[in-house]
Amino acid sequence: MRCIADTAPRPFEGHPLEPIAGGEVFLRNFHPRDIPRIAEIVAEALREHYEPSLYTSLSQQWPSGFMVAQDRAGIPQGFLLGVNQVPGEARVLMFAVEARWRDRGVGAHLMDVFLQRCKARGMVRVTLEVRVGNRTAIRFYTRFGFSVMDLLKGYYSDGENGYQMTRDI
Ligand SMILES: CC(C)(COP(=O)(O)OP(=O)(O)OC[C@H]1O[C@@H](n2cnc3c(N)ncnc32)[C@H](O)[C@@H]1OP(=O)(O)O)[C@@H](O)C(=O)NCCC(=O)NCCS
Repeated sequence: MRCIADTAPRPFEGHPLEPIAGGEVFLRNFHPRDIPRIAEIVAEALREHYEPSLYTSLSQQWPSGFMVAQDRAGIPQGFLLGVNQVPGEARVLMFAVEARWRDRGVGAHLMDVFLQRCKARGMVRVTLEVRVGNRTAIRFYTRFGFSVMDLLKGYYSDGENGYQMTRDI
C-alpha cells in the first residue's frame, strides 16, 4: 500500500514548491545540489559548459532569480537563471527545459514567475541573448513581448551570432 508520503514531491528544506504543468512539475528556488543536473541540461540544451562555482556565485546575488522546475522526484527538469547586475535591469543568463519536458508550459511558467519577481523587485527592463538560429526560443520570447535590439557577432563560444532581446516591465 502506498501512502501520501510515497508519492508527494520532495522539496529541499526551505524551498517551497509550486505545482505547474498539470501538477507533474514544481517550481522552487535553486539549491547547490542541483548543479550536476543543471550542468547536464545546459550541455544538452544550450551547448555550453561552465564551472560549477559559477552557478553558486550567481545564485547568491539574487536567490529568487534562479528558479528550478523539478519533477516529483526532486530532479531539475528546467531552470531559469536571472541576474540583476545593472540597476533596474534584469538579465536572463540561462534558460532551458529538458527536451522531454518541453511544450507543456514549463518554460512559460518559469518566465511568467520570473517577470513577476522582476516587477516586485522594481525592475523596469529585462534583457537576454539568444542564438540567431534558435527559432523556437526567439518565437517563445517574442510571445512574451521581447524584441530584438541588437545583433551580437560571434557571441557564442562556437562562433554563432546572437541577438540581444529586451522587454520593458
Ligand atoms: C525555450 C524553452 C526554454 C521553452 O520551454 P518550454 O517548456 O518548451 O516552453 P512552453 O512549453 O511554455 O512553450 C513552448 C511551446 O509549447 C506550447 N505549449 C505550452 N503548453 C502546451 C501544452 N500544454 N500543450 C501543447 N503545447 C503547449 C506553447 O504554446 C509554445 O509554443 P510556441 O512557442 O510555438 O507558441 C525550451 O524550448 C528549451 O529549453 N529550448 C532549448 C534551450 C533554449 O533554447 N533556451 C533558450 C536559450 S536563449
